[in-house]
Amino acid sequence: MLYFHPVFQAVATLLALYALTLGFRRFQFNHLKKRVAFNWKRHVFVGRLALGMWMLGMVGGLMMARIYWSTTLLTGLHWQVAFWMLPLILFGFATGEVMNRLKEPRKILPLLHGLNNLILICLALFQFYTGWHVLKDFVL
Ligand code: HEM
Ligand code: HEM
Repeated sequence: MLYFHPVFQAVATLLALYALTLGFRRFQFNHLKKRVAFNWKRHVFVGRLALGMWMLGMVGGLMMARIYWSTTLLTGLHWQVAFWMLPLILFGFATGEVMNRLKEPRKILPLLHGLNNLILICLALFQFYTGWHVLKDFVL
């Protein structure tokens, strides 16, 4: 069961990368004046799934730690980075939902949303490194 969380978070990160490739097309349209199509509905669907899964996975990791080791917050950098990701996930969700509901030409908010989510992906990829140490030191 301790492997479920790493696999789950890896899938969430792949979905986030897919949302980024879709979002990059919107970036080209908004800022580089390129006339490329943006699959709006799919971006929103995959984006929600990725952010939701990261949140759920975080709770899952904490629950597994509690079940198997009877305590949480023992993985150092791994849980600390996770907690840094939390406000960014909420910001990514909130900005995405606002732009999805109130559609109008925008520049600043999409940029903040895209940058925020790009940072999130970098942090998630860093979690593979910190998570690998958790696996090595506590699980394998
Ligand atoms: C990991 C998840 C996500 C990533 C990597 C991501 C990335 C991006 C990027 C790069 C853009 C283009 C920004 C720009 O033009 O400057 C964008 C636009 C957009 N995103 Fe996301 N996004 C994610 C999640 C979401 C979610 C959850 C929603 C909705 C609930 C959402 C809704 C939108 C909308 C509506 C736009 C177009 C905004 C506009 O041009 O007015 N995104 N996203
Ligand atoms: C991508 C986002 C990720 C987030 C937000 C995240 C978050 C967390 C959190 C909050 C915990 C509880 C730690 C504690 O109480 O000290 C945890 C546990 C753990 N994490 Fe992650 N994690 C992520 C990805 C990964 C990855 C990619 C791996 C493996 C390469 C991994 C391996 C582990 C392991 C082995 C545990 C112990 C509990 C369990 O296995 O279910 N995590 N994680």
